[in-house]
Amino acid sequence: MAERNDWDFADLGMKHTQYLTHFFHHWTAKFIPQIPARAIEQYARPGDIVVDPFMGCGTTLVEAARLGHDAWGTDINPLAVRIARAKVAPIERAQLADYLAWLEKAARKPEAHLAPTAALFEGSDRWFREDVARAIRAVLDRASELEAGTRNFVEIGLSDLLKGISNARMDRTLPQLPATPKYVDKKHYHRVVDNRTRRINAFARLRSQLRRMERALDEFHRQARGRPEPILHDARDLASLGKRAQLAVTSPPYWSAQNYQRLHWLSFQVLGLDAPGAGEIGRRPRDYLDEMEKVIAQLTQVLSGCFVLVIGESKDGIHEQVRDLCAAHGMKPKETFRRRLVNQALFVKAVRNEFIYVFEHRG
Ligand SMILES: C[S@@+](CC[C@H](N)C(=O)[O-])C[C@H]1O[C@@H](n2cnc3c(N)ncnc32)[C@H](O)[C@@H]1O
Repeated sequence: MAERNDWDFADLGMKHTQYLTHFFHHWTAKFIPQIPARAIEQYARPGDIVVDPFMGCGTTLVEAARLGHDAWGTDINPLAVRIARAKVAPIERAQLADYLAWLEKAARKPEAHLAPTAALFEGSDRWFREDVARAIRAVLDRASELEAGTRNFVEIGLSDLLKGISNARMDRTLPQLPATPKYVDKKHYHRVVDNRTRRINAFARLRSQLRRMERALDEFHRQARGRPEPILHDARDLASLGKRAQLAVTSPPYWSAQNYQRLHWLSFQVLGLDAPGAGEIGRRPRDYLDEMEKVIAQLTQVLSGCFVLVIGESKDGIHEQVRDLCAAHGMKPKETFRRRLVNQALFVKAVRNEFIYVFEHRG
């Protein structure tokens, strides 16, 4: 088997990886789009359908559509699926235009547009200043009148802003309240932040976020030739969807129990989303391989073609065990690439390399 090193993409900056709708929302351990793009360019034939069983925020689906392939993906996390939908689903342009016009007015005169109530969820008064909470309430109430896709687009735009307009520390990745409203932001030049007085115009921030997103979605729809379908579903039960694919590209969850729930806690609360529950792989490290095996077995039932598995190196060799499970389920190893990681974010800092295992499966 060849082992080559040309998947590093080490020279890429943010602007190279945040094109089209990829910038819409943060999501831990998301692909840079160059990885699924290269996988699709190298291993899909014209007309092939692409699947990503752990699609996260939909990077594979965006790239597949851009490259002319229909694609479907599953994720067990409702926030991930809503982000993926916002990135690819059409919106009602006239409704969004009205909504943006309302936001513009509200941004100019926030106090006249605040909702009467500041209640967002139990205990939300600790997380958001009263004027900010009332602005969020107003934004959500107004969005509830929109058609479903447009409403989701607006709510995902808001969701990405939540931590920045909350009382949470700016220098922590997980939402965490400072001991006092005035604190030093140790990440950003030791800046002093005072949550009681800092300027937060939630209407203005949301307006500029949505306008940027709208331009990006337009560009996506101009370029996309394939149809993407993000599905809220447990990958351990992939075959029950009755769908097929000729190329699978995925990066599975890490085995070290990273917790999307805690990281995106404010979004779950404000949007009223259900927690993904016990089916979320990676919560119980000792079950990791058994659960991964279920997904691999299911994948062999829907796939006829190549499988590109992108998985972080573990000092305990878990990546190799997952690779071996694929082979044990009849997938034929085709190629292996090693990718050196730079600029790693929280939770995955310890991972230095990623392996890209390519298999062939004739189902
Ligand atoms: C490493 S992330 C994938 C990120 C993705 N490549 C992207 O670009 O956004 C792994 C994903 O697996 C999802 N996941 C965990 N358990 C799952 C399950 N049983 N079924 C489907 N998805 C699951 C997590 O919610 C997470 O979004």
